[in-house]
Amino acid sequence: MYHIKTWEDYLTAYEHSVAHPEAFWEEIATNFYWRKKWTLPLECNFEQPSIKWFVNGKLNIVENCIDRHLQHYAQQPAIIWEPNNPDDAHRVISYAQLHEAVSRFANVLKMHGVYKGDRVCLYMPMAPELAIAMLACARIGAVHSVVFGGFSAQALSERIQDAGCKVVVTTDSGLRGGREIPMKEIVDEAISNLDINHVIVYKRTGKPVLMKSGRDVWWHEAELHAQAVCDAEEMDAEDMLFVLYTSGSTGKPKGVVHTTGGYMVFTAYTFQNVFQYKPGDVYWCTADIGWITGHSYMLYGPLLNAATVLMFEGLPVWPHPDRCWRIIEKHKVNIFYTAPTAIRSLMAEGDEWIKPYSLESLRVIGSVGEPINHEAWEWFYQHVGKENCPLVDTWWQTETGGIMISPLAHITPLKPSYASLPLPGVQPVLLDPDGKLLTGADVEGLLCIRFPWPSMLRTTYGDHERCRQNYFATFAGMYFTGDGARRDQNGYYRIIGRVDDVINVSGHRIGTAEVEDAINEHENVVESAVVGYPHAIKGQGIYAYVICNHSPEDESLTRKEITDVVVRIIGPIAKPDKIQFVTGLPKTRSGKIMRRILRKIAEGETTHLGDISTLLDPSVVEDICKENKRMM
Ligand code: WTA
Repeated sequence: MYHIKTWEDYLTAYEHSVAHPEAFWEEIATNFYWRKKWTLPLECNFEQPSIKWFVNGKLNIVENCIDRHLQHYAQQPAIIWEPNNPDDAHRVISYAQLHEAVSRFANVLKMHGVYKGDRVCLYMPMAPELAIAMLACARIGAVHSVVFGGFSAQALSERIQDAGCKVVVTTDSGLRGGREIPMKEIVDEAISNLDINHVIVYKRTGKPVLMKSGRDVWWHEAELHAQAVCDAEEMDAEDMLFVLYTSGSTGKPKGVVHTTGGYMVFTAYTFQNVFQYKPGDVYWCTADIGWITGHSYMLYGPLLNAATVLMFEGLPVWPHPDRCWRIIEKHKVNIFYTAPTAIRSLMAEGDEWIKPYSLESLRVIGSVGEPINHEAWEWFYQHVGKENCPLVDTWWQTETGGIMISPLAHITPLKPSYASLPLPGVQPVLLDPDGKLLTGADVEGLLCIRFPWPSMLRTTYGDHERCRQNYFATFAGMYFTGDGARRDQNGYYRIIGRVDDVINVSGHRIGTAEVEDAINEHENVVESAVVGYPHAIKGQGIYAYVICNHSPEDESLTRKEITDVVVRIIGPIAKPDKIQFVTGLPKTRSGKIMRRILRKIAEGETTHLGDISTLLDPSVVEDICKENKRMM
């Protein structure tokens, strides 16, 4: 693998990657097993966009994740699974066992009519079988679309339809802390009006579920008829590997599409270099596989490096807030990658929970998903890393496929709350709103990437124009991230946050428009406006301003009903934290809601609201402020 070992290596690699990007990536790509080598490293046009890496290269990513390692690492643990309940036994799955399980399930998929190019929806809790199902899809060239278990039946249904999935894989139920999530029941509701050929159900808890005859099959029963050998399908480098839905600023969630070759090269390279992974390390990423972090850094990136991945089914604070520290001690975790929300909630529980445990094995700690505030950074660095472990604050997105800006552990000098420097091969720039390039130090602007990288999104499923509009049309020749950032004198980047109408709640991306659409489904709601506001644990909370048809007789009852509607339509992750009933919303003369004002009020700022003279009816603002004060 391409290994950056020193600061000098980093500087040289970066320079080389800018001067000769194609040669740089080709050199990295040679470390993999290709059935047929590419004929051209890159073919790219940002206008359309049309992006192809390793053109005409043929490979299978699972051969690279598993088969390739069997010669030396067959008995090495690939996955260590720590169950929700600390008293239950953990499971260890070696590379040889993973190879067998994936091949067998790949055959189960084929027996149920799944072939190359077909989309399969996976709605599962954090069980090794989710990883196995994903790899089984990739082995036969089917496209996986994993939907996070926190989404409701309706949200799941939309995603199944959008991707045209004919097969769904799920479990009877899932466990998260003290709660049981009825996965199969949710799937049944989601597909009640859809034409789904098969639902394959893995028995995780033994919860009784209805099995529709002809359609539903048990995983363990189907496996009895499946062979443990399955040839990997030969895929083109640009064949679709997976779809993953994420929220944007407008309308319904979009299916971000990643392809095979470039995604493989980038996730493997970034995993190795950011975490400075060494053979034998135990690596733990706390993200759910249902998000991109789970795809890239729980599954593909680590397995491509023959790493041992710890997969945890439960919650960091259940049954007690020492669960993480217990797990680190028990499995001698060397690399611990988590999210600011988890860090803040663990910090709030106090240091006493850490003290009894030895965290000696830790060598690198990491954070992803939201800006990490100074206080959380320091706490994580001091109390968990014991000031010995570099904290890699990794910035990236579902769309980028892998880590773009981050320190390299033990190599890049750290600066708290800065994601620091781009990885070699990544060329970030800051622009002003007119698209002018901001050069020099201490500037703040819109974060864009100006040269393609192998794991960038290729399209949004079924709607290429939306991909163009969203990411490539704002500034010509650039990929626009939707984030704002600042750059200091040393070229270090600090990510400020989204500049569009996307809020980041506990690291989950939620489009304000989606929440508004859901709230508006309540029979008494005329209109609503949703904004984010600073939240001590979640990073951002959801604040909803709601206009009702007739003023609610019982405000708290209506609030609860509205919350229930959001949970039904999107899922518990999008529950509004605060709902304020208003009689009007601040709108410009052209009818556009001025969210800037609503954001300030949600933050508790009611005096310095900026220019409100362009509003159709400025008195609305006064009323909202008054009501806001009453609520506080
Ligand atoms: C935010 C998660 C600050 C950012 C991998 C981005 C971050 C969005 C960081 C993507 C970070 C991610 N510092 N902000 N280290 N990492 N973000 O698609 O706003 O779930 O655009 O991917 O999270 O979220 P997504």
